[in-house]
Amino acid sequence: MKSASKMLPHKCLIWRCLFVGLILGQVQADLDFNNDLENSQKFKSIPTTVKTYENDTVQLPCTLHTPFRYVRWHRDDVALVDSRHPEIPRLDRIMLWPNGSLQVANVQSSDTGDYYCEMNSDSGHVVQQHAIEVQVAPQVKIEPSDLSEQRIGATFEVVCDAQGVPQPVITWRLNGNVLPQSSSGNRQSLVLEIKSRNQAGLIECVASNGVGDTAVASVYLHVLFLPEVSMTQAVVYSKLGARAHLECIVEAAPSATVKWFHHGLPVALGAHSSSHESELQANRSLDHYVNAVRHTLVVKSVRNADMGQYECRASNGIGIRSGNVELTGRPMPCLFKINPGTQSSTSHVLVWQTESQLPIMEFKLKFRQIPSSNVTRLLKTNWTELTIPAQSTSGLIYITTYTLHGLQPASLYEASVLARNSFGWSDNSKIVRFATGGEVELPNYSTESELQEDFSEEDFHNEITQRSEVLSASMMFNSGSVNGRGFSALMYSLCLIKLLPLIN
Ligand SMILES: *[C@@H]1O[C@H](CO)[C@@H](O)[C@H](O)[C@H]1NC(C)=O
Ligand SMILES: *[C@@H]1O[C@H](CO)[C@@H](O)[C@H](O)[C@H]1NC(C)=O
Ligand SMILES: *[C@@H]1O[C@H](CO)[C@@H](O)[C@H](O)[C@H]1NC(C)=O
Ligand SMILES: *[C@@H]1O[C@H](CO)[C@@H](O)[C@H](O)[C@H]1NC(C)=O
Ligand SMILES: *[C@@H]1O[C@H](CO)[C@@H](O)[C@H](O)[C@H]1NC(C)=O
Ligand SMILES: *[C@@H]1O[C@H](CO)[C@@H](O)[C@H](O)[C@H]1NC(C)=O
Repeated sequence: MKSASKMLPHKCLIWRCLFVGLILGQVQADLDFNNDLENSQKFKSIPTTVKTYENDTVQLPCTLHTPFRYVRWHRDDVALVDSRHPEIPRLDRIMLWPNGSLQVANVQSSDTGDYYCEMNSDSGHVVQQHAIEVQVAPQVKIEPSDLSEQRIGATFEVVCDAQGVPQPVITWRLNGNVLPQSSSGNRQSLVLEIKSRNQAGLIECVASNGVGDTAVASVYLHVLFLPEVSMTQAVVYSKLGARAHLECIVEAAPSATVKWFHHGLPVALGAHSSSHESELQANRSLDHYVNAVRHTLVVKSVRNADMGQYECRASNGIGIRSGNVELTGRPMPCLFKINPGTQSSTSHVLVWQTESQLPIMEFKLKFRQIPSSNVTRLLKTNWTELTIPAQSTSGLIYITTYTLHGLQPASLYEASVLARNSFGWSDNSKIVRFATGGEVELPNYSTESELQEDFSEEDFHNEITQRSEVLSASMMFNSGSVNGRGFSALMYSLCLIKLLPLIN
């Protein structure tokens, strides 16, 4: 055993030695002695980077072609072992073999780094660099995690933090679909502008570095939105004493409360009217937090005062939305039926159908001529109205046949019909258009734009005039009848096809 007084100068020597070695190591590392021919030729061992995993045992070789006097290892700038001073090892995981190899047992990720072996022999002092890279499977953290609720219009930022060696690559997935941007770097954020409820779903951050399993962290995004109200029917046809069901379907997140209003006033619920709700099966697995509820207002025995406009008003924390439904005893709008019978050149047979809970008293048939190939475009025709008495029927359905006489041959007409019962007039039917000599059922006018070049500005003004005329007659038509700039052109072509056999 050495005495304390003897230890002191000895220890000083070690420190000085370490210090010199440290400076030396640093300088030599900078000079890249691994490529220094004279230096490396003396080594039998070759510079190695050992890729390893946590808890493994690693050996770094250090052998010369000639015997050595002593060997020292240091890591970056920390001395590890020295063959002359077996008492200095600080970590029991690290040991020096007699042949110069360094052994690191139970490797930790902190052991990653450069290791330098210095050997002293008869031919001088040489250094070799090795490295240990402890590979660590990726780990990933996401913020926020689990669940996040965002409103439409919000900007949602998700931050993903991935750790691992080598540096993991981060990829984002939205409902299982990989987003195009992916990059390395241990922190990455995904910014989503919440524009629609369809953006709801699973957001995943996937980190992989080729070591072990890929790591996934996720957050589930719930999009909160204004109630969406849809009415199963816009008009409910009923009669006094009958039971009426008014329905609206409300989808919302968070769930909405629904109140019914009649002519702007809350509906008094009780013996006369009651409201029910039933949850509709949510069939979208990702949307399970959205609830779709059918709300029904039941009027048990309809009175006159119960008729009119109803509002289904749904509200949640985001806002209020409404849908409207009318309860009425009026007849349903009439529907023209295609009449396959042969038509004469001055008359036309029209057939229409309607349904009414109360007896229909009369019909009002409106018709007018519309421009055709041999009628000037400036032609202005007013609607001609005819009152047609209703025939009694045993059921609720009324089918009426009426022949218009005294029409211009080979001309175009349009017609609309309304029905009246003791409750009032029905809405207008859709417009039917026909040519004398044959009825023409027209398709949609969605091709208007394609036909527009056939029309000059003048024609357009002409159309506007026609339109205001129609409005002054306080008629409302479906199927784009009055704004059909291209409609006439379409009519011409249809008409020509129809007329050619007539002319010949
Ligand atoms: C290493 O050992 C520790 C302690 O036994 C253990 O928790 C860890 O999972 C091990 N690492 C690997 C990669 O096996
Ligand atoms: C050094 O010695 C150890 C222990 O005997 C042995 O496992 C290792 O292979 C030797 N290394 C070289 C380069 O000979
Ligand atoms: C859910 O949707 C699938 C198809 O999209 C359908 O086959 C199934 O019947 C639906 N289930 C319910 C309860 O609506
Ligand atoms: C349209 O032309 C046909 C055949 O040329 C003719 O019989 C008919 O009277 C014309 N209509 C008008 C409104 O001039
Ligand atoms: C069409 O109706 C308007 C207003 O109702 C009237 O001023 C005009 O004279 C009518 N035109 C024809 C040709 O009857
Ligand atoms: C006609 O137009 C309506 C409304 O624009 C549309 O819903 C319908 O599908 C169209 N029908 C055809 C046959 O294009």
